[in-house]
Formats: sequence, structure tokens, C-alpha cells
Amino acid sequence: MARGRRSSMLTAIDIGTDSVRCVIAEPTEAGLDIIGVGKSKSTGLKRGVVINIESTVSAIRGAVEAAELMAGREVQEAYCSITGSHIAGRNLSGVVAVRNNEVRPDDVARVLKAARAVRMTEGRDCVHVLPVEYAVDDIHELASPLGIAGVRLEAKVHMITAAKTAMDNIVTCCNREGIKVAGLIFSPLAAAETMLHPDEKELGVILADIGAGTTDFSVWFNGGVIQTGVVNIGGKLISDEIAVALRSPRGEAEQMKIKYGCAMSQLVDEDDTIEVPAVGGRKPQQKKRSYLAEVIEPGLEEIFTSIGEQIRRAGHEEHVSSGLVLTGGTARMSGIDELAEQILGIPVRTGEMRESEAGFGGVTNAVQDPTFAVAVGMVKLAARDRQVVEPSNAPTTRTPWYYRFKEWVKEAFVD
Ligand SMILES: Nc1ncnc2c1ncn2[C@@H]1O[C@H](COP(=O)(O)OP(=O)(O)OP(=O)(O)O)[C@@H](O)[C@H]1O
Ligand SMILES: [Mg+2]
Repeated sequence: MARGRRSSMLTAIDIGTDSVRCVIAEPTEAGLDIIGVGKSKSTGLKRGVVINIESTVSAIRGAVEAAELMAGREVQEAYCSITGSHIAGRNLSGVVAVRNNEVRPDDVARVLKAARAVRMTEGRDCVHVLPVEYAVDDIHELASPLGIAGVRLEAKVHMITAAKTAMDNIVTCCNREGIKVAGLIFSPLAAAETMLHPDEKELGVILADIGAGTTDFSVWFNGGVIQTGVVNIGGKLISDEIAVALRSPRGEAEQMKIKYGCAMSQLVDEDDTIEVPAVGGRKPQQKKRSYLAEVIEPGLEEIFTSIGEQIRRAGHEEHVSSGLVLTGGTARMSGIDELAEQILGIPVRTGEMRESEAGFGGVTNAVQDPTFAVAVGMVKLAARDRQVVEPSNAPTTRTPWYYRFKEWVKEAFVD
């Protein structure tokens, strides 16, 4: 589709291993209206990373065109999700002298710049710099230091970096479709925007998005992100394991997983049986449903064990008292919350979109499915971006979005 005039609308494209989802929203006086939603099957990604440009461009086109049709508008610019095991998070800090005896926005901008002034490994670049907390002289754990009197300002930040090639490939796919990338957003940060309550973020909580290719998580404490991570396992690997174990075609294995799957074999009735289609024209066989659960369980177990280990290693065990919130397609698996609770020893809930929020309107029923959490979260973050950054009129190039997005991150999480 030829893409013309720019507009005030905000678009998010969640480029996933199983599906590409597009959400178009329009800022209103009260907040945001969802005006277009589209979804398309994705085949060009492996474990969250683009491996085939043509297929990914075509999936992006499918999702965007469906959303455009519903919205009756054309997309010229979009925020895109990024994930994959190449993503890494680290905590950094920076210190500056306060210029006018009272912390002002330019002091905050300087301290964040100081905190992120680290040498980047070759081939990597920064996706987000998220302020965790500030200190002014001896006053610590400040969410915002603005207006506080003092001479020394310190910022602790969580920096998320990614492989440049993975970032570039997402931009290339969108540019091929005539869409400029306004910014890249690490998936679990966007999902947290729609799935977590502010008090959970204060008390400490983990958000895990278990998709088809990867499991991405973010850890929140005192209202900010203190840790992020990726586990290289998702629903696709589990379906592949079912196909091998039951000697079934891949598509049938996926359907059996969705229809009869369970995260824990002990939750399945021993007498339950299922009919398993076979490959090569052989006759279907009868299998115990608990056997299917036995194939599913180890992959999911590995996901939660890995999340637990990464959080323990970072010393954040004490910072997750509100537990774990699950989202993404694989979080629909029956019994998954029980399994996660048993492994991690914290309360677990499967996430539901925080509907009926003030100022959030339009076709909200079309995005009730929690797999839209990332796309909806991105338009919400983008709306905050618009409040602080004037939209650039730059043509489709790589530099402007990237610079702008880093600036947005700096601003959007400051207060
Ligand atoms: N009811 C269900 N039970 C178990 N698994 C399910 C169910 N529904 C969907 N899934 C799985 O969820 C996965 C798709 O989830 P999602 O749409 O969140 O992935 P994605 O965003 O495309 O991938 P990723 O973010 O990992 O790149 C598929 O592997 C699918 O088999
Ligand atoms: Mg996803």
C-alpha cells in the first residue's frame, strides 16, 4: 500500500515468532482510542529474531493492512517490539554535580547521560536506559530527584542492549513496507504497561511473556525496572518436542498441545486418553493425556528454573514479593501457574489486560486477548513519548528514530 501523509495516530507492531500484531491508536483528550487491530501469521523469525526478510515483510504487511482497513487510515511510522537471546540488561550508575543547588531537568539529563556512558561491545547498541532510582547527597531511593536541594546527584539505571544486526533487520523489514521505525521496545517492558498494577511494580513483581520463540521477563521494584532477561525457550520448541515424542506431524502436534496440553502431568486424570495422528499415512494411535503433559512439562520447568536462577544470581529474590505475572500465548497452557508456583515458590497469576482504564477506549474488545499485551503496551508508551518529544518529520532513515528513541527513553521514565 502506498503510504502518504503523516498523522497524529500511534502504531505498534509486535513482531513475534508465531504472529505479527499491529495496533493503531489515536490520542484523545481523555487518553487513547484503539482504532485498528490486525494480526498475521509469522514465518520469518526464529526464537524472536528475524531470519528471513521477505517472510517477515509479508507478515508485517498482513498485520498492518488489516489494522489500516479497520482504522481507515494509513500507517507511516510505527514502534516495533524487539526480543531474542541477544538482548542483555545491566545495571549502571552515574554521578554529576548539581548546577544550581537544586536538581533541575538538565541535571537529570546529564546524570542519565553519565550513567549510560559505557563502552559498548562491538556489534551491540543501546535499546533502553531506564532510571531505577536517584540519590541527592544522602537522600537515597528517590523516584524523581527534581526540586531536591543538594550538590551531588547520582542515578542508578538499567540499560538494555541488543545486537545491532537484529535491530537493523527489524528496521529493514519495516522500511521495505514503507514504514519508518519510531522506536524499538523490548517486549516485556511494553507488556508490563498493560498487565501490571502500579502497586505490584512498587512492591516487586516479575512479568514473563512466554511466546512461541522466547520467554522474556522484566523485574519491577519500587516502581522501576531492576532486571530484564530472555530464556531461549517458547511454545514452538514445546510443539516440536511433542511432534518428535508422539511421532506426529508438526501442525497436529501444535493442535494437540493447544487442545489437550497441560503443564503438569500430575494434574491430568490418569484415565484420560487422546487420539494421536501419525505421520506417513499410518493409523492414529491412542495415548494417555498424561504422557503429552510429561513431554510438555520439562520445557516449561526449564523456563521457570532459568528465570529463578537469573533472579537469584542478580540478588533480587527479596524484591519480587508480588509474585509472577504470565502473559504471551504459551501462558494459556492449563496448569502453567501451578507449575510456576511450585518451582519459584511465589504467587503466580496469568495476566489479564487492565481493561476499563480511564481514558482507554475504542475497539478495546479486539485486544482483550493477552497476546496483544505487547502491542497495546507499545502504543501506551508511544503516547507518553508524544507528550515529551515533538514528532520528527525526518524521512525513512535509520538515524533519526534511533536517536529520538533514546531521547524518549531518557525523558519518558524520568518522572
Ligand atoms: N491454549 C494454548 N495452550 C498452550 N499454548 C498455546 C495456547 N495458545 C497459543 N499457544 C502457544 O503460544 C505461542 C504463541 O504465542 P505468542 O503469540 O505470544 O508468540 P509470539 O509473540 O508470536 O512469539 P515470540 O514473542 O516468542 O517471538 C505458540 O507457540 C502457541 O502454540
Ligand atoms: Mg511475543
